[in-house]
Amino acid sequence: MTLPTHVYPVVWQDDHVRLIDQTRLPAEYSIVEIHRCEDMAVAIQTMIVRGAPAIGVAAGFGMYLGARESQAGDRAAFLSDLETVAETLRATRPTAVNLFWAIGRMLKTAYETTGSLTDTKQVLLETAQAIAAEDLQTCLAIGVHGLQALPASPTKLRILTHCNAGALATAGYGTALGVIRSAWGSDRLERVYADETRPRLQGAKLTAWECVQEEIPVTLITDSMAAHCMQQGMIDVVVVGADRIAANGDTANKIGTYSLALCAKAHHIPFFVAAPLSTIDWQLSNGSGIPIEQRDPIEVYQVGNTRLCPLGVEFYNPAFDVTPADLIAGIITEHGVFAPNQLQVSLSKLEAG
Ligand code: MRU
Repeated sequence: MTLPTHVYPVVWQDDHVRLIDQTRLPAEYSIVEIHRCEDMAVAIQTMIVRGAPAIGVAAGFGMYLGARESQAGDRAAFLSDLETVAETLRATRPTAVNLFWAIGRMLKTAYETTGSLTDTKQVLLETAQAIAAEDLQTCLAIGVHGLQALPASPTKLRILTHCNAGALATAGYGTALGVIRSAWGSDRLERVYADETRPRLQGAKLTAWECVQEEIPVTLITDSMAAHCMQQGMIDVVVVGADRIAANGDTANKIGTYSLALCAKAHHIPFFVAAPLSTIDWQLSNGSGIPIEQRDPIEVYQVGNTRLCPLGVEFYNPAFDVTPADLIAGIITEHGVFAPNQLQVSLSKLEAG
């Protein structure tokens, strides 16, 4: 297998999108070419592309592909086609708000662009490319701010992370893994502890893979080992990503994040969330309104072709959980690190200059 030097999971090339197929890693590094909006919707739904910011970037390009496919001859018909495309993409996954954010931005661009439909389609492509480019810059800034937020001692930190909030989950570099990359580059990292992240194993398959690509020392643990590792003094800080943050700082992230936050609190270990501002849902006052994706039970009862349990068992497979704001030491964004319950105030101050 040829290994990539840089990991960019969603790339526009010539006239189509190239996605790293994240369902095949780490066994196989392969690219899926996406030419049609409908195929992008399937890629998001089946998790060929996953991770909140990467889903947003993919949806931006999906909107462009849908616009390109439109045969509409006038503006009203074109916008109606685009609303249908938006509906298709919105129906793919419910929790990561970046999906809805990116679709909203593309729609707003379409409504606000004057000129011919050909011009509008070109502006939509440029907007999708801008979403991708901005996300990469955002992750780099999160890395810089995150470094400042990390505990001053010990000098070399053992950082626990959950799921994959790395380059694969964004336009590149990553949020939580961006902070970890930044710590590694500044000689502040001893080791990453990666939770395997049942049932989809994003920690084992993707986070561990990214670390190995860059020779970042990584130890894989099963999710149930995290509390024990904390109790044994093996973890200095926890950094995770987010799929949706309510206005009060309550944070939805991969299932298992909440129990990590509780354990971290019990062991006086700082627990940070790293996410772009596009992950904040200002419409939701708290986390109780965050839609939690329920996935196919097969992810719980089967590994490969092997069924793990007897027939007659019932299943529950929520893909995300919500960590209350009071368990979070800080939210690391591209504009700085904020106390979760001060998000609105801090960002308003920032806007006011
Ligand atoms: O189901 P997934 O793999 O899309 O879930 C991903 C996560 O939960 C990530 O932690 C989150 O999206 C942040 S990615 C920077």
